[in-house]
Formats: sequence, structure tokens, C-alpha cells
Amino acid sequence: MRLEGKTAIVTGSGSGFGAGIAHTLAREGAAVIVNDVNEVGGNRVAAEITNAGGRAVFVAADVTNADAVRGMVDRAVETFGGLDILVNNAGVSHKRKPMLDVTEDELDRILAVNVKGLFHTGNAAIPAMRNGGGGAIINIASTGAVRPRPGLTWYNATKGAVTTLTKSMAVELADDGIRVNAVNPVAGDTPLLATFLGEDTPENREAFRQTVPLGRLSTPEDVANAVLFLASDDAALITGVCLEVDGGRCI
Ligand SMILES: NC(=O)c1ccc[n+]([C@@H]2O[C@H](COP(=O)([O-])OP(=O)(O)OC[C@H]3O[C@@H](n4cnc5c(N)ncnc54)[C@H](O)[C@@H]3O)[C@@H](O)[C@H]2O)c1
Repeated sequence: MRLEGKTAIVTGSGSGFGAGIAHTLAREGAAVIVNDVNEVGGNRVAAEITNAGGRAVFVAADVTNADAVRGMVDRAVETFGGLDILVNNAGVSHKRKPMLDVTEDELDRILAVNVKGLFHTGNAAIPAMRNGGGGAIINIASTGAVRPRPGLTWYNATKGAVTTLTKSMAVELADDGIRVNAVNPVAGDTPLLATFLGEDTPENREAFRQTVPLGRLSTPEDVANAVLFLASDDAALITGVCLEVDGGRCI
């Protein structure tokens, strides 16, 4: 087991990629705080992990709320004795559409979750990681940060912020022994997919699939395996990297 003795928080892990990440980190020995605003999904994932013999606690917290995020980090430290790994996975998007049709409310929401959420989790988690002598932060960005395409302009911009933040945090936190990396997944079959495709039809899926050299969409397991590597000591000298998990789409 590659994460024995570690404690991890995975935001937005009641569904999709986050659920896969929480399962994988727990399988590798980490005690996991499953976080989400979706209580049904969060409780389900935490129960699945404990039923499989792992350690997990669900904490309902909105990453846009500083007090709630601070409470979640306190809970991790109180329950499991520290915090070693933070996966900033919670994210939302506007529906695929021309940039001039995105409303100010939609923009405020995606900035609040996708960007300001990292402000709150960083403020709460970094002091706890410093107390423990270091840690690993993994941000889930997107191929849209690197190779943006029309229709998701403002979502892509939030993910561009995440990759720049990843590199900036990596240099700022290196002296603390905190490594900061990102994963850039290509479109995956999660509840967010319909938002990205505009309409989730077999034709739209097939058209997208053909843009991926390895010929398929990503899975929660693909993303989770990259997160596991970046969280583990196998990546001890890796920081500031934004790793595409995209079947070659960004080439
Ligand atoms: N699915 C894709 O095609 C794709 C591609 C690239 C990147 N991503 C990114 O991967 C991450 C996970 O997305 P997913 O596809 O698994 O979607 P998803 O909708 O299945 O999961 C996102 C989870 O985040 C939770 N969440 C939303 N707002 C929250 C908040 N304020 N506080 C706490 N939790 C919150 C949701 O309830 C949901 O359970 C996101 O950051 C997304 O932008 C997804």
C-alpha cells in the first residue's frame, strides 16, 4: 500500500472522478475525508470505502464557504491525526455555449467553486500540512486549460487559473515540503459530461471520441491512478507539473 498512514481530503468526491480518487487513495491505505455538498453521494462513497475495509468519513462542506472548509480540515486532523494529501477536485461548469451567452451568475458560480474554492482549501489545509512537516496537493484542472476549444470559454479560463495556481503554489510551498501538482483529464463519463458536450447524444460522444488519439474518454480510474502517483512518494521530486490524462488529445 502506497499511502499507509496518510490522511487525505478529496473535495467533490460524492460523484464522478472524485469518487474514483477517494476509493483509490483508501485502497492504498489513506484515511479519506470524502467531501461534497451532495450528502447522498458523499455518504454512499464513504460507506462503500468502509464496507470494503478502508477508513473514510463523509464531511458535508461547500468549498466556497471558508468556515465550512476550515471545519472540514479540523475534522480531518481530529479524526485521523493530521493532513497529508489534499485533492481539489470539486468543480462545476456552465453548459457548452457561446461565451456571450454565459450569464454573470454562471460566471460567479464557476469562479467561486473552481478557483476561490482553492483559496479556502489552501488557507485551511496548508497550516495543517506545515504542522505535519509537508504534504501533497493535487488540483484537478482540465485539458481545457491547455488546449481550449469553443463553447467552454469561461470554464476553460477557471481551469487555466488552476494550472497557473498549481505552479505558483509549487514554488511558494516547496520550502514547506508541500508538493503541488495538477491533473488535466480529457472528457470523462461523469455527470458533468452532458454539460461539456452540450447535449449527451451518441453522435456527440462519437465525434468527441474521434478527437482522442487513444480512442476513448477518460474514466475515474484513469484520473485516480494519476492522482495516486502524484500523492505518493514515487513522485517525491515532482512538483508544479500539470499532467495530461487525455489519451493524447492535447498533442
Ligand atoms: N468529467 C469531465 O469530462 C471532466 C474533464 C476535465 C476535468 N473535469 C474536472 O473534474 C472534476 C470532477 O468533475 P466530475 O466530472 O467528476 O463531475 P461530477 O459532477 O461528477 O463531480 C463533481 C462533484 O463536486 C461536487 N461539488 C460541486 N460544487 C461543490 C462545492 N461547492 N463544494 C463541494 N463539492 C462540490 C458535486 O456535488 C459533485 O459531486 C471537476 O473539477 C471538473 O471540472 C471533469
